[in-house]
Amino acid sequence: MKILFLTHSFNSLAQRLHVELTRHRFEVSVELDISDAVSCEAVTLFQPDLIVAPFLKRAIPAIIWQHYRCLIVHPGIIGDRGPSALDWAIMQDQLQWGVTVLQANAEMDAGDIWASQVFPMRFATKSSLYRHEVVETATAAVLQAISRVQSGTYTPIPLNYADPNVLGRLHAPITQTDRAIDWERDSTRTILKKIHAADGFPGVLDSIEGVSYYLFDAHTEDRLRGIPGSIIAKRQNAICRATIDGAVWIGFMKQKSDTQSTFKIAATLALQDSLTDIPEIHLDAFASKTGNTYRDIWFEQEDQVGYLHFSFYNGAMDTRQCERLREAYLRAADTSVRIIVLMGGPDFWSNGIHLNHIEYASSPADESWRNINAMNDLVLAIITNTRQLTVAALQGNAGAGGVFLSLAADHIYARTSVILNPHYKNMGNLYGSEYWTYLLPRRVSSEQANQLMDTRLPIGAMEAQQLGLIDDCLALDHADFVKKIREIATGMAASTDYLQQLKKKQLQRQIDERREPLQSYRSEELQRMQLNFYGFDPSYHVARYHFVYKRPHGWTPRYLARHRGRKRRTTAGV
Ligand code: COA
Repeated sequence: MKILFLTHSFNSLAQRLHVELTRHRFEVSVELDISDAVSCEAVTLFQPDLIVAPFLKRAIPAIIWQHYRCLIVHPGIIGDRGPSALDWAIMQDQLQWGVTVLQANAEMDAGDIWASQVFPMRFATKSSLYRHEVVETATAAVLQAISRVQSGTYTPIPLNYADPNVLGRLHAPITQTDRAIDWERDSTRTILKKIHAADGFPGVLDSIEGVSYYLFDAHTEDRLRGIPGSIIAKRQNAICRATIDGAVWIGFMKQKSDTQSTFKIAATLALQDSLTDIPEIHLDAFASKTGNTYRDIWFEQEDQVGYLHFSFYNGAMDTRQCERLREAYLRAADTSVRIIVLMGGPDFWSNGIHLNHIEYASSPADESWRNINAMNDLVLAIITNTRQLTVAALQGNAGAGGVFLSLAADHIYARTSVILNPHYKNMGNLYGSEYWTYLLPRRVSSEQANQLMDTRLPIGAMEAQQLGLIDDCLALDHADFVKKIREIATGMAASTDYLQQLKKKQLQRQIDERREPLQSYRSEELQRMQLNFYGFDPSYHVARYHFVYKRPHGWTPRYLARHRGRKRRTTAGV
């Protein structure tokens, strides 16, 4: 069965569906929703048996849905209609939400229903709910809808608001007025809820010292207090603002400007000049956790196992974060633990160097250089640690350098739903570093390595395991995955062959170093990166600019639009 994705972007849901449907042996091709004419052309070229729209912001042209069955994935329960589905669900404290797969027709989100599934809501950011619950539920619902289509006997159910089980309603798009924070009245929870509901995009518009910013990445603070709305502390990338009953940390902000495009950066970077009198409240990554606060790196030890958590917003790691994580790793290696588990964060493992902070720097080329070197230093510390075994536990997705960071560990586990993008080329043909030329061939054949790098497609944890890229994938939710990782790590530390394994690792490192020193891999990679950063070809800088400013695609990349590699048929009509 040939399935065409029509999607606004190849986002996390589209990637996951691509992986799942490919695994189910469907022939999948992707067209980004650029214009009606381009979509029509894609349909003509591919002649799909079914069209799936994982993430659309506009209606599908009538000429397409009148001739082809189009299934729209809507992140809402049955009857929910409108563009801010998840935002409203969070704002309205819904206890249960869902995903509905419906057939496109003349009315937006009102077509016949092919499948719908629900999930319990969490108090979390919209992007976190989307990346986990929505993606998971949507995957199940789309697979169910496709099997119903394939059965040829299933009749989709028309939307009927008279049915008491239909709880969703048409809602207006949410506005910044709906989202606005009243610092004199809103409780900490309400403020968190408002920022959570706008996380990812568009953020909550607020004013700080007369300048308008969109706020993202909010966290509770239990101890600090002050005048509601005022900035009372800073820590690393975040600022802390008092509320009427506590305080919240804000990690990321985007300045609103009517004259120029802006993008998200760390709050402390955005407000740099006005924070000189604000106290920096340090928190040792190794201090035991007492109450809620903001921390992006923290360590906990249980018997002979150390767990190093690093939860960076969007998985992006700036120079200082790489340096701090390396310091924490080396400190962990200096303790009595036998195993260090790199936990990443609950939403992301890592997406590599911080493209937004690079873009913001006065010299993006210099900052790219600093960032990749800091990342390399971190990877090097992990590879050359022969005192302990390191385990990478991927709770969330990983991309580009983030994937190769995980390969520095001795053992790699991931949740089955994790999506990996083990390639760099999508960022303007970036060559990549992180010792990937050493790490990747340790796990896969050179043919497989080339294929991963060149196809530029996401792969699922199951495919990664089959390739040998990771050791195992565990079909568990977050809590159970973390529990299982603790069991595995504790077992490794207590294992009778622990010392033997360590010895083997030390020996292998010596052999590898004699064969080719790590410095030589690094130098060769960095030579290529230097060309990316400082050479005549500006592709990396252009691609980063487009990525950071979220410039819409002008065309669908060929590695996604398989139909465009084919011989063209007529483009007259569909
Ligand atoms: N630096 C800064 N921000 C990053 C980032 C990075 N390396 N990687 C992802 N992000 C941000 C995105 O801009 C997006 O921001 P938003 O919250 O404002 O929307 C958010 O993280 C989620 O990314 P998105 O692209 O929407 O996620 P996805 O699941 O659809 O795609 C990737 C995942 C990894 C394919 C994609 O994010 C990507 O290509 N990232 C860049 C990887 C890279 O080239 N790193 C540099 C080389 S090491």
